[in-house]
Amino acid sequence: MRSKVKGLISIFDLTRGDIEAILERAALLKGERRAGLRRRGDLEDRILGLIFEKPSTRTRVSFEVAMLELGGSVISLNWNELQLGRGERIKETAEVLSSYIDAVMIRAYAHSTIEDFARYASIPVINGLSDLEHPCQTLADLMTIKEHKNKLEGVKVAWVGDGNNVCNSLIGGCALMGMELRVACPEGYEPEERVIRRIEAMGYDSNSTVRICRDVREAVSGADVIYTDVWVSMGEEADRARREEAFRAYQVNESVVNMAKDDVMVMHCMPVHVGEEMTEGVLNSDKSVILEQAENRLHTQKALLLSLLKESK
Ligand code: CP
Ligand code: NVA
Repeated sequence: MRSKVKGLISIFDLTRGDIEAILERAALLKGERRAGLRRRGDLEDRILGLIFEKPSTRTRVSFEVAMLELGGSVISLNWNELQLGRGERIKETAEVLSSYIDAVMIRAYAHSTIEDFARYASIPVINGLSDLEHPCQTLADLMTIKEHKNKLEGVKVAWVGDGNNVCNSLIGGCALMGMELRVACPEGYEPEERVIRRIEAMGYDSNSTVRICRDVREAVSGADVIYTDVWVSMGEEADRARREEAFRAYQVNESVVNMAKDDVMVMHCMPVHVGEEMTEGVLNSDKSVILEQAENRLHTQKALLLSLLKESK
């Protein structure tokens, strides 16, 4: 299948069919890798640039390994080592980089930085996390859920904690794949209003697709999946004390896990702040799939890169 995917700035750039194709290809790639087949020449001569305005372990390494294993190359760039850090405009940076490399992944504070870059770039742009979204994470999350539940449609997901960037993209992914998401968060920490409006504009009933609850039990009872993330995302450090207070009642601990279905899977995009949003016991329990999620970043991003770079070759 020739994909129409041109880049990935928001999860809403993808259709349900695009996501299904990425997950299917990712599953094949994972199987091949498990069988010892790592090197493929598909992206020979292709170069991916990685631009980081903030730290990363999984995103950086999984994109680098994905390109290397597909036969391509990577140039990893820190924001402050580029002229961007000294005030060069996004416009000229995007125009110049487009003449050197074949695609770029950007992790930036402001989502608008990535949108601006894409406006002026003539190469595919991938969002490696912004203050608004983390669509690459959602692809890996959907793959992980499908592996465990054998389906996505109808799966009930409970998000517990901050309605942040990871949550915003997960909302889009759940809506597109026909899943139900309940978000338990304190007042003032809801997911982005524009994400909810987007769901409605696509014709989904936002009440049944994503329901905001204050009560953790209401969100978690009957859930197939419990998902949480850090209380203090990158860039929000100044608000740490207020956030720790607000999220105290939203920790995913053993008693919260016991409110869900017996076969509930516990998810976290990582990095985990143990003892804050998740207890050590839950993290190490057999319900936790967080290492599989992290591994699936590699497989889903390989599938994404093939659809962005191979089909256009
Ligand atoms: N989940 C995730 O994006 O992790 P990193 O911040 O380590 O890239
Ligand atoms: N919400 C977190 C996710 C990190 C992968 C952050 O933005 O810091």
